[in-house]
Parts: sequence; structure tokens; C-alpha cells
Amino acid sequence: MRTDSSPTTIYRKDYTPPAYLVDTVELGFDLAPASTVVANRITLRRNPDAAGSDIVLHGEEIELVQLRLNGQLLGEGDYELSAATLTIRNAPAEVVLEIETVCAPVENTSLSGLYVSNGNFFTQCEAEGFRRITFFPDRPDVMAKYTVMLRANKEQYPVLLSNGNLIEQGDLDDGRHYAKWEDPFKKPSYLFALVAAKLVCQEEQFKLADGRDVLLQVWVEDGNLDKTDYAMQSLKNSIRWDEERFGLELDLDRFMIVAVGDFNMGAMENKGLNIFNTKFVLANPRTATDIDFAGIEAVVGHEYFHNWTGNRVTCRDWFQLSLKEGLTVFRDQEFSADMIGTDTGRAVTRIDQVRTLRQAQFPEDAGPMSHPVRPDSFVEINNFYTVTVYEKGAEVVRMYQTLLGRDGFRKGMDLYFDRHDGQAVACDDFRAAMADANGRDLTQFERWYSQAGTPVVTARTRYDAVKRNFDIILSQRGKPGQLPFHIPVAVGLLGADGKDLPLTLEHGKHAKGATTLVLELTEQEQIFRFREVDERPTPSILRDFSAPVILEHDYTDDELLHLFNHDSDPVNRWEAGQRLAMERLLKLTAQVAAHGAANLKLDQTFINAMRTVLSDESLDPAFRELALILPSETIIAEQMDVVDPQAIHTARQFMRHTIGTVLKAELLAQYHANQTPGEYSPDAASAGKRALKNLCLSYLLAAPEAAELQLAQQQFDNATNMTDRSAALVSLIHSGTDNGPHLQAFYDDFANEALVVDKWFAMQASAPTTNVAAVRKLMQHPAFTLKNPNRARSLIFNFTNANPSQFHAADGSAYEFWAEFVIKLDAINPQVAARLARAMDRWRRYAPALQAKMKQALEKVAARQLSNDVAEVITKALAN
Ligand code: TRP
Ligand code: ZN
Repeated sequence: MRTDSSPTTIYRKDYTPPAYLVDTVELGFDLAPASTVVANRITLRRNPDAAGSDIVLHGEEIELVQLRLNGQLLGEGDYELSAATLTIRNAPAEVVLEIETVCAPVENTSLSGLYVSNGNFFTQCEAEGFRRITFFPDRPDVMAKYTVMLRANKEQYPVLLSNGNLIEQGDLDDGRHYAKWEDPFKKPSYLFALVAAKLVCQEEQFKLADGRDVLLQVWVEDGNLDKTDYAMQSLKNSIRWDEERFGLELDLDRFMIVAVGDFNMGAMENKGLNIFNTKFVLANPRTATDIDFAGIEAVVGHEYFHNWTGNRVTCRDWFQLSLKEGLTVFRDQEFSADMIGTDTGRAVTRIDQVRTLRQAQFPEDAGPMSHPVRPDSFVEINNFYTVTVYEKGAEVVRMYQTLLGRDGFRKGMDLYFDRHDGQAVACDDFRAAMADANGRDLTQFERWYSQAGTPVVTARTRYDAVKRNFDIILSQRGKPGQLPFHIPVAVGLLGADGKDLPLTLEHGKHAKGATTLVLELTEQEQIFRFREVDERPTPSILRDFSAPVILEHDYTDDELLHLFNHDSDPVNRWEAGQRLAMERLLKLTAQVAAHGAANLKLDQTFINAMRTVLSDESLDPAFRELALILPSETIIAEQMDVVDPQAIHTARQFMRHTIGTVLKAELLAQYHANQTPGEYSPDAASAGKRALKNLCLSYLLAAPEAAELQLAQQQFDNATNMTDRSAALVSLIHSGTDNGPHLQAFYDDFANEALVVDKWFAMQASAPTTNVAAVRKLMQHPAFTLKNPNRARSLIFNFTNANPSQFHAADGSAYEFWAEFVIKLDAINPQVAARLARAMDRWRRYAPALQAKMKQALEKVAARQLSNDVAEVITKALAN
């Protein structure tokens, strides 16, 4: 395998503090698409806590024009310049460097560093993009104060933004103008940002808890001001929430969000100048679904919350990424839950989190890219912005709260900020703050950061009717050689009447009458004895999904039905339904694989359980929807030793078809009972009704007759919002009937709405009737481009990741397609290409014939000249 430069592995254990610290940075930009001149004046001084007198600056894809040290022009013999660094040896203790460089933003298709999107300038510096703008010690433990002067043509780029406060602006000659920005806070280089663009904004003054007025702005392209309300509202809600829940205030006078159509990820928390993928800003009822609205709230919150967890306290090195990301995901999860405000609403968000873990994080942790929440090594840091660092990291943070209680967790947070405000720190520092603030020993808890993989917790039970004891015996196993984790296991016991029994644990203090207790499993195996238990109870284990583990317990169908019908913990109630469904799905899949699709049967018990929940109007519609969705094909695949994607698809379709047929009357009744007439509102209650209604529709269209097709067509024609419109279209497409006219009508209506065109591609890419030939044909559509990440993802990723039965077509044609586009995308945008490369992560789990074809495709990619990003993913996939 060949790469641009030979890929080197970087190890966490090799961390050393920087030899020089930077106090101030003054940047001057003369912005032009083909050639931007960057003047950079930095003051450095030797780090008293480090050895050495070499100044090491990073720099990539930039041309050095001039370099001065303490006023002296340096010649080529005075420094060493490599492809990635500029080193000045034996430098004095105090240094002023003046560096002039040139870059070419319009040619930057990687979207890292300074680039042009739709004619406007944007930056993306996390993780290591600042070095593509200027030479700098581009590492997060170098924190400095920044002043930025922007100069550009006034007509083309009327808006000039950077971090912090605007302190000066005015006109220059030649139709140019300037703006000077100053960020009062020290920050690492990855939080630098600038925008030079033709944009408009929605703005308002907002009063903080301490009475200060701040200016809030949401910047978008002209024509999109009808889609900024929800982002603005979410920003205000985020500010309030962080004040109330964590006592954290906005520390600037001005806070800006800017939307850009070309962006590698969701959004970026640059100090005072958050830059967002349009997907997480722009929404109105016509163009955005309930899920889009929820995504905007979560991401606006996430980036805003980074201002404290990430910016004020940042990471010492990139191995500590989860310090800010796990914590900030946890904070945005809690924010979204609190915004709904009800217990079931909170549980519904929790169930969604569990689904994401199982759909993406557990597979990652069981595959070739498995890594601890705090990785020990990487080749390309961009490959480690993963579901493990983010979502499992959030689970680890959540476990502190589960173990310490909400108040204890808050104490830990307070101490963390007391100790570390303005510093670049490590995951261990966060753990120490949690431990010290609560007088707890969290030494063993460290293993959640250092040991990869999903632990398996096995539960056995025994009941002694004479002594009235009920024992839960918990044991755990991690990967071979791992030490036991500190696992909080929340449990409750249900009586025969379905009610929670009051709990009395033999050892350990707890409130009298408690019905849920958090057991702390710290050994390989432990027995927890409940006393005064008058009847053999049904245990509800791992309530609220209290730890990111796989729970094994031999539940009988009767016990699962009991939990599914009665558990007071909605997460475990949902979980019982998933277990009932999974058992059947696995049996049906095995049957399809062995004997084909004839003679499949679904038992009445299961159908009745579904019927009961579907029609139980005392239950939140959002919960009922989740309870009725079958485990995804990906999650089913994870349960199998040898994955047969077509058999899984057939089995799951059979179940959907059966439910759609047998429960037709109930589905129709709920379809009609959960309409949301009147003005559209994205609130959780309305969204929950739409979700249930549209799930009913999709079941009805799993086995459609004329009446069901007509129902979907009516909904498509009469929908007043994108949620209902796209749900109707997806149901129609997935029903397999001809939908040429619907697809065309939808496209014609929204041809000018890029985010809706993305949906149009996505829903076709994930339809089980869309094969690789159809995807290739869609690529010929004039609206398709590889250069825009959202568009590339909408078609290619939705096919490779969300359409397993077609992606794994027996002839291997889709694997060849995958290889072709990993290679093509790598030449444009390595970060996006590396994400696509990961679609093959689980290749070793498929039947030998498929495996051989997948391996061929991997080797085809490996033979090419690759970026470090793709090279790392492919090398790890092929390694033993
Ligand atoms: N820090 C960002 C977030 O989680 C993530 C991010 C945005 C990012 N853009 C990126 C990471 C580009 C790597 C590369 O909110
Ligand atoms: Zn983040």
C-alpha cells in the first residue's frame, strides 16, 4: 500500500509537553480564492515545564514566503522545512516569529483548513486543519490569544467574521474592506475560525442570567432566512439550559452560528463562531422532518455546550478527545431530554441512544477499528471521531451520574471547572474531579477509558421461597485478558401483578421502599441478595440501560411478555419487546437460510403483544412507535456468527408483512387516531404521533392492497409538512410498487432545496428494490456530485450502510462499486472517503463466498495510492 507520506502511528504514551508556548497570535488574511496571503505574527516563550529549545511548527499544503525571528529575516539554512513541519533549532527563550504564507482555498476540496464553498470562504481547523492555513504548533495544549485582520473584496464578501469580538471595520482601496476581530480567551488553534462571505443573518439580543445582553446571530445564504427560526430558538434554549442545569454562562458578548453547504461533519464549536453543516441549521415545516428538527436542537446544543466542555477546558492531546466529545454528547442528550420534560419523553430519548449504540457503536467495538474511549494510538486522528469516542464516551459520562447521582455529578462538574478552567487536560483529570468532589474511589472506573470492546454481563437468578430471598448473580466478561469493569447495573423486581416490589438489599444502604437500585458490579462475579421477597419476581435488569454492555439472561417468553406489558422502566419495557422480536427474527432467518421463504410462521403470542401495545392509548405514541419497530437488519446481523443479509431481509420483511396483514384494522385505527391537524409544530408530542402514524403506514404498505396504496398517495398529496410527505413517499417506494411519478413530483417541488434533494437520493438508495445498477444510474442525475459531502453520503453511504440486502448482492458488484468510490472520493476528500471505507469493517463475518469478494475489493483499494485516512482504515480491515 502506498500513501502520500509514509503513515506513522502516533502513541498516547509518547506525549511530551511542547518546548515552546505561544502567548499571542496576530493573523492577517488577504483573501482571494486562488491565492490567499496569510501573515502570522506569534510570540513564543520556552515552556518552563518542558525541555529543549527547538521550535516545531506544523504546516501542510502551504507555501512559505517569508520568515522572521525577532525581526531578523531567516534564510534557508536557519530552519528545516519538511512536508509537514518547520523546525527552528536552538531558538532563544523568547521569540517573535513573523511568517508569511500563501494557500489556494479554491483548490482545497478536503474541506479542512481554509476552503471555498459556493463562492464563500470558510475554515475548519479541528483536528489538524490550522496547519493548512499557517505554520503553527498545531496541538491543543498550545493555547494563545488571537487577533485577526480580514481583508477581502467588499461586494463579493460583505460579511467578514472571526472568533470573539469585532473591534474595528472599514473600507480599503480597490473595492476592498477589512474587519478586525479579537478573541479575549486563550484557545487552541483548532478553535480558530473565519468566514468571508455573502450571507444574511437572523439576529437578536438575549439577556443572560446575570443580566448581560448578548448578540445572537444565525448566518445563512440569501433565501434561507425562512429556515433559521428553529436554530435560533434552540440556541436560546441551550444558553438557558446550561445556566440552569450546570450554572455555566456564555462568556462572550456575541455568539454566531454560520451555515455552510460543504462540510465534513455535523458542526464545529469554534469559539464564538460555530460553523454548521446546513443540515443542522436550516429547517422549516415544508423542508425538514421531525428528525431534522430534533437534530438541529441537539447539534446547536452540542456546539454551544462545547464552549465550556471543550473550549474553556480543552484537551491536552487528541487521545483525550472523548474528554470533550463524550461529555458534550452527554450534555446535549440531557438537554434534549429536559426540553421534552416528561419521564416518558426522557425514556424515548434514552431508547434512541441505545439504538444508536447497538446499530453503530457495538459493531465498531467488535470490528477492526475497535478502540478504547481514550485510544492508545492512531495514524490519522480524523478517523477517531467515532461512535466510540462520542456515544460510548457519553455512556461513560452518564455512568458517573448514575453512580454519583445528579447532585454528585454536578459537584464533580463544578470541581472540574474550578480546577481546570483555561487548561488543556486529560480524561483522568475529569475522573479525578468526579472522585474528589464526591469522596469516591473511581480507580477501577478508569478501565472504561482504557479497555476496548463491549463487556458482556450475564445474570442468573434464584429464589428461595422459604427464606424469601431472591439472588441475582451477575458476572462479567470483557475481551481476553481484560480486567473487570466497574459496572452500574440498575435493577427492579416485578411482582405477578406487574407492579414493582419494594426492594431490600441484604448489603448496602438504600432508601426504604425503593423500587430501582443501582448494583455495582466490580468483580468478575458477584451475588446480590434481595430479602423479604414474597413471591418469585420477574427481574428487570439494566434499567434505563445503566451501562453500555450486552446483557445476557435466559428470560422465558412469559417473563419477557410480563416485562413488555408492565415494566415501570420504559427502556426495559421496550427492551423486552426487542428481545421477543429478536428471538423470532433469528429463528426465521435460520429457517429462510435453510429452507427458503416458504412456510414461515409468526406466533400469535407475539402478534398479540404487538397488538396490545399498538392499541394501548395510555402509552405515549412515541414510545409505542419505538416498541413496534423491529430490530434493524444491521442489529440482527450482529447477533449472527455468519451473516446472511438476504435471509435477514426476507425474515424481517416476512414479519413486517405479517404484522401489516394481521393487525391491519388496528394499524388503520391508530393511523387515524394519531393525525396532527392544524399548524405544524415539531414538539415531541406531535412528532411522536406522526412517528406512530407513519410507522402504521409503513406496516400497512408492507403488504399493500389498493386501499393502502391510496392512503399513502393521499398522504403524499395532502401533507402539509416534510415529515408526512417524505414518510408517505418512503412507504410507497419501499412497497415496491412503481413510484416514478411520485419521485418526479417530489423532485420537481424541491429541486432548489439541497437538503431535500439529499433526502430524495437517500430514500432511493436505501430502498430494498434499489440495486447497484440503479445507484449508478442515479449518479448520472445532474444533481449528483461527489464533491459535496452531504450529497455523496445521501446516495453512496445510504446504499452501502442502509441497504444491506443489496450492498451484499451475491455477485459482489456492490463491493466493486464501493472500491471504485472509495478511491474516487479519496482524491477529493480523504475524510469522507475514510468514512465510506468503513462500510467493509465487518467483512469477516459474512459467508465465505461473500468474504472472498469483499477481500478482493479491499485489496483493490489497498493497491492504490491512498491518503493516510483511507490507508489506516483499509490496513486495519485487512490485518488479522
Ligand atoms: N468538534 C466537532 C463536534 O463534535 C466535530 C467536527 C466538526 C470535526 N468538524 C470536524 C472533527 C472536522 C474532525 C474534522 O462538534
Ligand atoms: Zn463535539
